[in-house]
Amino acid sequence: MTIAIIGSGNVGGALAQRFAEVGHTVLVGARFPLSEKSIGLATKLGEDRFTSPERAAAQSDVIVLATPAQKAIEVVQALGDTTGKVIIDTMNSLRGMGPDGFSTTTDAVLAHTATRDVVKCFNTTGFENILNPTYGEQAADMFVAGHSSHGKAVATQLATEIGFGACYDLGGNDKFALIEQLAFTWINLALLQGYGRGMAFNILTR
Ligand SMILES: NC(=O)c1ccc[n+]([C@@H]2O[C@H](COP(=O)([O-])OP(=O)(O)OC[C@H]3O[C@@H](n4cnc5c(N)ncnc54)[C@H](OP(=O)(O)O)[C@@H]3O)[C@@H](O)[C@H]2O)c1
Repeated sequence: MTIAIIGSGNVGGALAQRFAEVGHTVLVGARFPLSEKSIGLATKLGEDRFTSPERAAAQSDVIVLATPAQKAIEVVQALGDTTGKVIIDTMNSLRGMGPDGFSTTTDAVLAHTATRDVVKCFNTTGFENILNPTYGEQAADMFVAGHSSHGKAVATQLATEIGFGACYDLGGNDKFALIEQLAFTWINLALLQGYGRGMAFNILTR
């Protein structure tokens, strides 16, 4: 796949590295001049991987959004025509700071883009777990939500390719708020209750 990553910080950088490592073509849609974080990522991926968000999106089948939640609308509007593409939203409206008028970033994205293949994934764990989802013999699990079965299939394939144990389907667009709450549960445990960022969700099944 050719994957555009919009936002080259903690999450965008981790996903860009892992998708490239498992053989996908990654284009990073960044702001210029490049920030310190973007320069660090460009050193690892190659400067030729960096372009504008619009160009990265136009050349890709899959677009990953990894910018601050408050920027969701301006970021998706800058992508141009997304018809036929899958958008994977990784953002969370932390402390209620999301796009004005929308309960989740993904609802805001859907309202401002052409493609209906918009899903939310890679938002429920820290970026360190994206870089390395392995815990001894086990692997962290990932979660996805959205009406688009094509979008969910793409997100699930990518999650398992980069080492997550399984990618659990939480349901349709009505579960965007629930999957953000799962992210806040991880943040609460890891940061507020003191368990630390080296922890991840893993589902047991019989
Ligand atoms: N940190 C985590 O562990 C984690 C885990 C799951 C989900 N999330 C969610 O993922 C999102 C990103 O978090 P992060 O920790 O990766 O943030 P971050 O390190 O601050 O990175 C944000 C990136 O967004 C870029 N950006 C900001 N405004 C932009 C715009 N208008 N157009 C294009 N790019 C823009 C920034 O560009 P510059 O480099 O130019 O400043 C930066 O590369 C957030 O919504 C967060 O809630 C975070």
